[in-house]
Amino acid sequence: MRPTRRPVIVDCDPGHDDMLAILLAARHFDILGITTVAGNADVDRTTLNALRIVELAGMDVPVARGCATPLVQAPVFGTAIHGESGLDGYDFPAVQRRPHPRGAAEFLVETLRARDGVTVIATGPLTNLAIALRAAPDLAARIDALSIMGGSVTTGNVTAAAEFNVWFDPEAADVVFRSGVPIWMSGLNLTRQAGIDLHDIERIEALGTRAARTVAALLRFYLARQARAGNALAPAHDPCAVAILLEPQIVAWAPMHVAVELRGERTRGMTLCDARHLPEFNPAIRPGTPPRGDAPNARVGLRVDRPAFLRLLEDALAALP
Ligand code: RIB
Ligand code: CA
Repeated sequence: MRPTRRPVIVDCDPGHDDMLAILLAARHFDILGITTVAGNADVDRTTLNALRIVELAGMDVPVARGCATPLVQAPVFGTAIHGESGLDGYDFPAVQRRPHPRGAAEFLVETLRARDGVTVIATGPLTNLAIALRAAPDLAARIDALSIMGGSVTTGNVTAAAEFNVWFDPEAADVVFRSGVPIWMSGLNLTRQAGIDLHDIERIEALGTRAARTVAALLRFYLARQARAGNALAPAHDPCAVAILLEPQIVAWAPMHVAVELRGERTRGMTLCDARHLPEFNPAIRPGTPPRGDAPNARVGLRVDRPAFLRLLEDALAALP
């Protein structure tokens, strides 16, 4: 009997790397729905992009449109990296599907109350999740796990301190990290190790299917935009939030307390990760020393086996039509 696949909801702002996360999740999990949020582009564009990805992969998955703005501050979209559409690099055909009639927060509440054991994979700003948790605090005990791409144990990317998804909506991230939901965090300190280069893209292209060639064209755009920003590789940030759930030996992690800075003049949007008990951040500490300070509220990714990670990605892309 075929083992039942882990039920998941993907909350995202596609986004080239969000696309990779969706396709990797589709290979291994039972995606109950995709919810979209503003981030890499406005929410109309990220919703259209999610529909495009679903149709490209031949998936039968509802897409529910989410929040257009952060909880407090005005939105500043990530189009510099992902292009005006949020998923530049390929001229998609018109989509046939329509978004789900419910909004993202409503879809999250309904689905998480109707189904036990659901994991949420969040690869964009956490606005939808914060609103759902505020509207239905019972969800915190119902969500089996929340795997996010966001934050960083070390440096940010939008500022020296803040990573884009948390920086875009710090108040939402604060709600989520205080919620008590079991969190897996893939921050920039981890996801920057998961870079894609031109050889990786050429291998994807050589898979030969229409979908693989489309993904390769999109990744060529993403790599070029990352190069303009000074990056030698195109970081596959978001699929790390899927890989950390898949095969624990691919991603090493440690328990940490994570707090979101809301007031710092220079540090707003920073995830302050208490790593004082970890030798790789505190060489003076004795290995095995328990965490200090506030109790850990997240399992935080530290190292990824890049070749194994890329094999996972290529396996998922090879399965596309
Ligand atoms: O900082 C990286 C994150 O910001 C990724 O999720 C990327 O898609 C953008 O949303
Ligand atoms: Ca994203």
